[in-house]
Amino acid sequence: MTESYKGPEISDELGNLPIESAAERNPISRGTFRSILSTIDGRTVEELAKQYETPLFVFSEKRVRSQAQTMREAFRSRYPNTNFAWSFKTNRLDAICRILQQEGWSAEVVSSFEYGKARHLGYSGEQIVFNGPYKRRDSIERALREGALIQIDNWDELATIESVASELGGTYDVGVRVWLNSTHAPLWSKFGFNLANGEAYHAAQRIIDNPALRLHTLHCHIGTYLLDPEAYRLTVQALLGLRKELHDDTGHLVSCLNLGGGFPSNSLLHGMPGPTEKTIPTIDAYADAITSELGQLPEAEQPLLRLESGRYLVDEAGFLITSIVATKGAAYLHRPGSPLADLALKEKNLTGQPAKLSYVLDAGVNLLFTAAWFAINASPHRSVPGQLFPTRLLGDLCMEIDVIRENINLPHLSVGDYLTLHPVGAYNFDQSMQFIHLRPAVVLIDEAGEPHLIRQREDIEYVGSRERLPDHLDGG
Ligand SMILES: Cc1ncc(COP(=O)(O)O)c(C=O)c1O
Repeated sequence: MTESYKGPEISDELGNLPIESAAERNPISRGTFRSILSTIDGRTVEELAKQYETPLFVFSEKRVRSQAQTMREAFRSRYPNTNFAWSFKTNRLDAICRILQQEGWSAEVVSSFEYGKARHLGYSGEQIVFNGPYKRRDSIERALREGALIQIDNWDELATIESVASELGGTYDVGVRVWLNSTHAPLWSKFGFNLANGEAYHAAQRIIDNPALRLHTLHCHIGTYLLDPEAYRLTVQALLGLRKELHDDTGHLVSCLNLGGGFPSNSLLHGMPGPTEKTIPTIDAYADAITSELGQLPEAEQPLLRLESGRYLVDEAGFLITSIVATKGAAYLHRPGSPLADLALKEKNLTGQPAKLSYVLDAGVNLLFTAAWFAINASPHRSVPGQLFPTRLLGDLCMEIDVIRENINLPHLSVGDYLTLHPVGAYNFDQSMQFIHLRPAVVLIDEAGEPHLIRQREDIEYVGSRERLPDHLDGG
């Protein structure tokens, strides 16, 4: 780990323009980059859009499985004693969870809702790791009774667990979440016990001293979309240091190190230069950094390694097919000979920015939570000849901030054209909400290329079923 690591460089020169636009601004050779997405796993975007309506989330089963297999191979080939847990909050759709369950992933949950979901899907308690900053007492009791591994976040939770465990009788495996400075910025400090000030040591020691508890795991999830494998190496070193200190002082050797998730998908933050192949390390690079540290321990002392991956497994498997429902502003100005051409200048004077085409899509940021940070790709379903123009992609919410891309180069498209947004498989569906529109349908394309509806489009009855009118407001 180098002291000077500062995280991904955000280029001032590019601002929030994607790397492709550098080609557009090149005076010697104009850009030829054209992104088109006409099929997903053999199904045409047009056919999917017509069959299920847009907006439409589409997931590729093939992609989820291949990511899982690549990750398994990367870690197990280097360190066979690796266990994988699927981070439910990244995407809790039953079909997605089931695919990962079939791939051998256990469940990582962060709330009683997710815990219940995992049990409903057939995970046994022993196959569940229970994280999160707040666990209700009744969930703690259920998790302990069912043999789930609670990774303790704070002193109050530890006190509740001690009390529940003594009420239940018996001995229960638990973990502690640790936060530490892996030099990755920003430093996450909301979760767990601080390593540097000794909190983590004291919490661990208190657990070891309690005959009702057994300290099974040291856990640390340093962040998400981490672009430096060395941050993981440092984390492993720090956790191994704590483990050794506890072993030396108490004789107890912690049997599992859980490094959380955080491995990136092939995506770029706004303003980050690509291409992703150059910016995003491979999963092998992370596996190397983590397992080479563990591999240096004498075999008898090598812990179980657990990982709780989310984004890496599903982000690229998810697409959102949208339709263009309106073109706005400068859309007309680029047409040769347009009598409105001087409006472009007026727009520039007004906004301080060059006039842009704007397309309104039938999906907004209520479905695309990650659009705030990530420069989500938008690809037309058909090839459109001619120049590419700087374009703004607007959502369909009645809110000025509903902008999916401030600047993306696209050809002239028309109302009715489909634009597929990708990758959007991580966190977007789970954080989506019915702000002025209901949530769309979700389709999974199986490995044979067959689409399956895995979540119906919502309707008024679905949303209304939870509401109640008190008697005095009923009728009329
Ligand atoms: C405790 C924990 N584990 C795992 C994950 C999954 O992270 P990612 O999607 O970055 O792999 C998260 C997400 O933030 C988390 O909070």
